[in-house]
Amino acid sequence: MHIVSTIPQARALFEVLPRPLGFIPTMGALHEGHLALVARARDESAAVGASVFVNPTQFAANEDLERYPRDLQGDCVKLQRGGVDVIFAPDAQAMYPDGFSSFVEVGEMGTRFEGAIRPTHFRGVATVVLKLLNIVRPDVLYLGQKDAQQTAIVRRALRDLDLPVAVAIVPTEREPDGLARSSRNVYLTPEERAAAPTLHRALQALRLAMAGGRAKADAIAAARALLSPLAELDYLDVVDADSFEPIEELRPPAFVIGAARFGATRLLDNLWIDG
Ligand code: PAF
Repeated sequence: MHIVSTIPQARALFEVLPRPLGFIPTMGALHEGHLALVARARDESAAVGASVFVNPTQFAANEDLERYPRDLQGDCVKLQRGGVDVIFAPDAQAMYPDGFSSFVEVGEMGTRFEGAIRPTHFRGVATVVLKLLNIVRPDVLYLGQKDAQQTAIVRRALRDLDLPVAVAIVPTEREPDGLARSSRNVYLTPEERAAAPTLHRALQALRLAMAGGRAKADAIAAARALLSPLAELDYLDVVDADSFEPIEELRPPAFVIGAARFGATRLLDNLWIDG
């Protein structure tokens, strides 16, 4: 396995890997969810690349960039065990040299839900993902379903900007009590950790109620009641999977989505509704 930190080194190595090449972009602090992406890419590709880069442009000034967990050595061990051939781990200066000023604008889809709370977040995500794809030039990009809005925005950006890369969305890995695996779970206190699975339960209840014919507003009110008193809800909704616009019926392909704060930690979750 190779670990490289500069763009020329990365280009030189990725260029000579066998095809199809699968690629997993990450911000490190890898958990089972990331490793599921690696395993799927390993199964489906002749070669696998991954990046580890805590991308500053997707954090707002008031967010946790400095606090974001970092463990490059541990991440490299996990990626090597998962069968990754090349890891690209640049620093911020390599990705955003002085004078950097071009960004991918993601349009209205990036202003709803996560985008309403984190207005510049998806612009940063789309920009770094397109940069990484231009450096790595993979055949397939692997993304986790947990960040559902991110998957919709990236797929739209690749389509709009004609990047010849397929996207594979890998289902969310969960703890035994249903909590979606996330790098942010380590910040939860024991009480918050015990309360956190109520977000998943609320999403399941919302799906069940709407599948049973209940009106969305009613179903949302019933689902909210299942949340722990420790949860401060940002949103619960049902959206079209491609446009991320709210929809009134449980019409596939769709996501049932939710986000809530447990103390200082914001958690996201969703359920995929297919045909
Ligand atoms: O999902 C993430 O970890 C990040 O948003 C990504 C896709 C690696 C871009 O920085």
